Amino acid sequence: MKVFITRRIPEIGLNKIAMAADIDLWEEQLPPPRAELLRRIAGCHGVLTLLTETVDAEFFDAAGEQLKVVSNFAVGYNNIDVAEATRRGVRIGNTPGVLTDATADMAVTLMLTAARRIVESVDDVRAGKWKTWEPLGYIGQDLIGRTLGIVGMGRIGTAVARRCHFGWQMNILYHDRHTNEEAERELNARQVSLDELLTQSDFVSIHTDLNETTRGMFHAGAFEKMKPTAIFVNTARGPIHCESDLAEALRSGQIFAAGLDVTDPEPIAPDSPLLALPNCTVCPHIASATVASRNGMAEIAADNLIAGLRGEPLRCPVN
Ligand code: GLV
Repeated sequence: MKVFITRRIPEIGLNKIAMAADIDLWEEQLPPPRAELLRRIAGCHGVLTLLTETVDAEFFDAAGEQLKVVSNFAVGYNNIDVAEATRRGVRIGNTPGVLTDATADMAVTLMLTAARRIVESVDDVRAGKWKTWEPLGYIGQDLIGRTLGIVGMGRIGTAVARRCHFGWQMNILYHDRHTNEEAERELNARQVSLDELLTQSDFVSIHTDLNETTRGMFHAGAFEKMKPTAIFVNTARGPIHCESDLAEALRSGQIFAAGLDVTDPEPIAPDSPLLALPNCTVCPHIASATVASRNGMAEIAADNLIAGLRGEPLRCPVN
């Protein structure tokens, strides 16, 4: 069996795959250019992809009919046309669970960073602008007892809510198609409309997948409904917020600050207005970048790939 792996992943995963298949590994830091990807997957039985690879009809055509499985090294799979894969009998796997805590930690890190103006403060210290202790300097927002609005109350949203409920006694609101009874019981979380969440929350944190309902969900109209003291955090997918509208909301004081681990496009354009704003923290999509998470993702991605090659049920199937 022949597999193409589109980037070096932790050894624990690569070693497993090496026992089961012939590996063609893309060793570069940047993703394979599209033409190279299509050339390299031709004749493969399995492909291990990252979010940077678009897996669509063209991809499946280029791979050929022997392709059995595409294992995505991510929990999100908005880069994959799952319906097309299913139609062609190609199995798709993802890596849920192992990155829940790391991603929740990242969301809370961004909440605190934005609330306490950490990037602005550190930049000033480094630039020699720290003159004295100022009674009115660097005033930020508290977390204790405030209201957190979670959009998408799945595994990660619930983990963020748990940290904030038990850590800072925050009130938890959430917006989701499904009722999360466990979160309601354990965290006193309340399911509300998006409008109520926007108007009531001091922190709004995004934990939904990117789909046709959530794409562009945070546009000017949404930011207008938020409090001027509110903090917006996105660790899910960049296209869920509209970058120019967010920049305007931050510039005009419509909202207080934002913390982003995801942008659209990725990497963010060097001339993005967000990068010039002192009240916007942008990280390079690192929420799952911990030893345990990445090793866990590598193991699941390897198990999915190998099971798919063997025609067995995937450990974490998407279709
Ligand atoms: C990362 O964004 C992932 O979906 O795992």
